[in-house]
Amino acid sequence: MQQKLTEWSPNFEVLEISNAYATASIALTGAQVLQFQPLDQQPVLWLSESAHFNPEKSTRGGIPICWPWFGAHPDNAGLPSHGFVRGKAWQLDSVEDSENGTVVVLSTKDNDATQKLWPHSFTLELRIIIASTLNIELTTTNTGTTPLILTEALHSYFHVSDATNITVYGLENTRYFDKISKEFSNQTNSLKPTGLMDLVYMDTTADVIIEDPQWQRKIRISKSGSQTTVVWNPWKDKAQAMADFANDGYQTMICVESANALDNKVNVQPNESHQLITQISLESN
Ligand code: BG6
Repeated sequence: MQQKLTEWSPNFEVLEISNAYATASIALTGAQVLQFQPLDQQPVLWLSESAHFNPEKSTRGGIPICWPWFGAHPDNAGLPSHGFVRGKAWQLDSVEDSENGTVVVLSTKDNDATQKLWPHSFTLELRIIIASTLNIELTTTNTGTTPLILTEALHSYFHVSDATNITVYGLENTRYFDKISKEFSNQTNSLKPTGLMDLVYMDTTADVIIEDPQWQRKIRISKSGSQTTVVWNPWKDKAQAMADFANDGYQTMICVESANALDNKVNVQPNESHQLITQISLESN
């Protein structure tokens, strides 16, 4: 394995890994995986061509970590969207090769600034295993004396050849909340993106498969410790309104997020831990 820590912009440090199976890059801001590309494959994760590499903000693409709330804060719209750890400096604890691939561990914990936003004590650890598959394990530990009640997501942006020509399987017969219409519905069939979608699938632990005929591959997203799957594509108008989204960027991405959101809250008791895990692998069509 080869590893390099470089600054992609001032104070924005990125760990670049290259091993026998894949290359990957991980920003220390937010412990955000930015890139993952198995050898001889197109990149699996989508990273915006117009991304801003800001040491205090989440980057558009890869896998931002939404925690300890998903989306808007439930009671206080003034608090940051998707929680506060995606714009926080994480500590790089270790980088080691194992028989399963290269294992990278990052962590963060509460401090005065987080206590003001969310008055709780915690440690968070992200374990990333880079091989021909990408394994991500987010462990929340309650280091305080009262229960932690939270929502969260591994907000994964996937790279596809053409968003209008993919099919998303695995969410059939699942109830979802449409964040645009604000209504609950039931997904009857597989999903074919045709426009703006912001869908929160409830009570599902199923694998999701993104079938991409043009690139002759399927991306399989398996998960555990997750009861919710979120599917998002901002489509043309919303993408144009975002400074860090190239105008046509929506055409080559789709977010499929392993999450615990809305009523699928997680309750972590004092001295206990909870793990949200996702595994991303490629299959040929
Ligand atoms: C998705 C949400 O997970 O993230 C969307 O469901 C949101 O509602 C999107 O727009 C992007 O959020 P942000 O804060 O990274 O722009």
